Amino acid sequence: MAAEKQVTTTGLLGWIDERFPLTVMWKQHLSEYYAPRNFNFWYFFGSLALMVLVIQIFTGIFLVMHYKPDASLNASGVPVAFASVEYIMRDVPWGWLIRYMHSTGASAFFIVVYLHMFRGMIYGSYRKPRELIWLFGVFIFLALMAEAFFGYLLPWGQMSYWGAQVIVNLFSAIPLIGDGLSIWLRGDFVVGDATLNRFFSFHVIAIPFVLAGLVVAHIIALHEVGSNNPDGIEIKKKKDPATGIPLDGIPFHPYYTVKDIVGVAVFLIIFSWIIFFAPEGGNYFIEANNFIPADPLKTPPHIAPVWYFTPFYSVLRAVTYPLFGLDAKFWGVVAMGASVLIFAFLPWLDRSPVKSIRYKGPIFKAAITIFVISFIVLGYLGLLAPTAGRTLAAQIFSVLYFAFFLLMPWYSRMDKCKPEPERVTE
Ligand code: HEM
Repeated sequence: MAAEKQVTTTGLLGWIDERFPLTVMWKQHLSEYYAPRNFNFWYFFGSLALMVLVIQIFTGIFLVMHYKPDASLNASGVPVAFASVEYIMRDVPWGWLIRYMHSTGASAFFIVVYLHMFRGMIYGSYRKPRELIWLFGVFIFLALMAEAFFGYLLPWGQMSYWGAQVIVNLFSAIPLIGDGLSIWLRGDFVVGDATLNRFFSFHVIAIPFVLAGLVVAHIIALHEVGSNNPDGIEIKKKKDPATGIPLDGIPFHPYYTVKDIVGVAVFLIIFSWIIFFAPEGGNYFIEANNFIPADPLKTPPHIAPVWYFTPFYSVLRAVTYPLFGLDAKFWGVVAMGASVLIFAFLPWLDRSPVKSIRYKGPIFKAAITIFVISFIVLGYLGLLAPTAGRTLAAQIFSVLYFAFFLLMPWYSRMDKCKPEPERVTE
């Protein structure tokens, strides 16, 4: 009942508040959500990820109005799906803009999410009590990868087709059930119309629902425990005895809503520049081969995934030895899966007495630097055709990549950390 909730609003808002907790939610999540006052540059990327998600959904809705998930050939001998994307690009008013916002938006999403995850890693935001925020984040990341993979098949270009072929074929490496499983996933013996239709269904309905649900859970969990900050200390430990408000907390609205608008403005300037002047991102956001219609009879000489998958793809290709009677491809798939899932274990691998890189010791700083270098080098190698030298490099950097995580319980305990301050420092 309204009286019990002590709602004091009147007029239309009062009418709504008696029936729906609008003012209560506004206060709880915005005007009376106390966030640490020392958020810096790295704290822009959560709200930016939210905005890119909205851009993707909004542009996606308009793309679906003209896109056709159909692999059959039209009267000119071009696959209908491919032709429908060309139609959007050439004939639909502003269709090129909507399509480029969506395709460039996919890369922007990964850039923003990688920076957002990196922030979590340097400030120890995955540590107690934020393990669930982090785990929801890892599930978001998995869903995002699935979303991008399914979406990439839809234009039905050469890279769409052969990329999907390579990835679905990986499942055939699983002993006993592999071959049957990959046929079941494709719905056909090769990537075909059935595959295109199910990828479309997953891309526009199933995964977006999962993503949206996970993002809501992510933010509910965040608001339950409160945000971490660049000092990695808990602001809830020092509260004003009179008001109960954290001494280092400031209301999210208006302080951080205004700050986030600055991030959004800078992001939109860069994003617009790319869309208008380099929408294909120099072959990295959309590959040139994908402007050629899918041809099941012509395998492109070099098939590489889009840049955001290449670090993990490199780990897959780095495994070249069979083990326990199972071929290298199987272990490559296992290693690739592990290279993504290992992020989920970070909250329990880190045994450091402090959270933030500001107070961690030199070993952690060296370890995370090597990790970042490994991630970038693996990403670069994954774009190139393999040679003996590159495979060796991928093996070395894969070992370094995993070492960052697997040795963490050991080095995080013996590192020389500095004492954390009582209050936030800026
Ligand atoms: C669609 C993707 C995502 C969206 C929309 C999103 C949104 C947000 C927002 C709005 C915040 C609060 C603002 C901020 O701290 O920057 C946040 C915090 C956080 N996110 Fe995400 N996130 C996403 C993906 C991820 C991923 C993939 C991870 C990690 C694997 C992650 C881990 C975290 C953590 C640990 C925090 C708390 C940070 C702190 O308090 O220091 N998020 N997220």
